[in-house]
Amino acid sequence: MRLMVVGFGVVGRSSVRALCERREELRRKFGLNPKVVAIIDINGALVDSKGISPDTLLRASERGAKIEDFKDIFNPEAKLSDLLSDLDCEVMVETTPTNLSTGQPGLDHLKLAMKNGVHVVTTNKGPLALAMPALLELAEHNRVRLKFSGTVGGGTPMLDLAKKCMDGLRIESFMGILNGTTNYILSKMDSEGVSFLAALDEARSKGYAEADPSYDVDALDPAAKLVIMANWVMGKKLSIRDLRITGIRDVRPEEINKARSEGKIIKLIASCGERQEVAPMAIPRDHPLNVSGTLNALTFRTDLAGEITIIGKGAGGQETASAVLRDLIDIRKSYTRQALTQAQKFGRT
Ligand SMILES: NC(=O)c1ccc[n+]([C@@H]2O[C@H](COP(=O)([O-])OP(=O)(O)OC[C@H]3O[C@@H](n4cnc5c(N)ncnc54)[C@H](OP(=O)(O)O)[C@@H]3O)[C@@H](O)[C@H]2O)c1
Repeated sequence: MRLMVVGFGVVGRSSVRALCERREELRRKFGLNPKVVAIIDINGALVDSKGISPDTLLRASERGAKIEDFKDIFNPEAKLSDLLSDLDCEVMVETTPTNLSTGQPGLDHLKLAMKNGVHVVTTNKGPLALAMPALLELAEHNRVRLKFSGTVGGGTPMLDLAKKCMDGLRIESFMGILNGTTNYILSKMDSEGVSFLAALDEARSKGYAEADPSYDVDALDPAAKLVIMANWVMGKKLSIRDLRITGIRDVRPEEINKARSEGKIIKLIASCGERQEVAPMAIPRDHPLNVSGTLNALTFRTDLAGEITIIGKGAGGQETASAVLRDLIDIRKSYTRQALTQAQKFGRT
């Protein structure tokens, strides 16, 4: 499988490292033999049409390493559009930063790859939050796979649980905690009685919150994840602009105390049922969604099996890289299925 990695930060590097370190296992268990033919960052690209050597990949994926330092295969002029048409490549792994206003640069990357007949694995929520129905149509039209497990729940297989393990069930609704930073802040406010600002400062000092925390605390990040879940799992045709979104800036210690006195706790809940919204809500303290720290959790309400909850880490380079691996393996498995169908069609099995 010939791959191109676009965006070489925390997730891009962790994904390349995981591919190198699991090489043998991937080949043995899944017949997946990945060859990275290009790594594209904002400054240029590492390109080797024969596949960049595992040693170079491991060194390049070290924290702090710069792709420009690998002079023999670095091309500062390389453009994604040229690489997509010139290099023989099957899958683009897209891990550029999320932009929920324009979806760029990821949106253009995804469209370009799919129009060139290249499968896409992405961890970037921006393009999907803004244009998921159109992107899924584009994938279908060009007969390529668009995979995005890492966009929701980091390495926790929330999308796959709903899509692959619930055949025969009807999912009536779901609700969950889809952002670790806000869960950390609300958990601190509850357990230590501190204000929103004091809890935010602590989240920043621990590296859980960005200098500009608005994507998290204004609930845009969980809203983007809700859009992806709602489209993919519930068959809605939504963009982030269709949601009601309320962040946690205005949650006061008094509300948290009142909730506690009623046996409840305030959590930032993304829900999809009759309505789609993200807002702080008081839930019973013994509810399975009452997870602490930066954990994420999601409860599906189903007709035959009742409520099913999945809990796990919602982010992290290595964790999200595991979702990239899962998507690549899934694409590899679909090759096998296609080959089987072809063989059956021609009476060869
Ligand atoms: N980190 C996580 O735990 C996590 C979890 C789930 C999903 N995600 C999502 O996965 C994506 C990547 O996250 P990350 O943490 O790896 O971010 P990151 O560390 O900021 O990496 C993004 C990389 O993309 C590069 N880039 C920016 N514009 C580009 C362009 N036009 N062409 C090529 N490369 C470009 C950046 O270069 P510069 O740094 O030079 O700008 C950077 O190397 C984001 O969309 C994020 O929301 C992250």
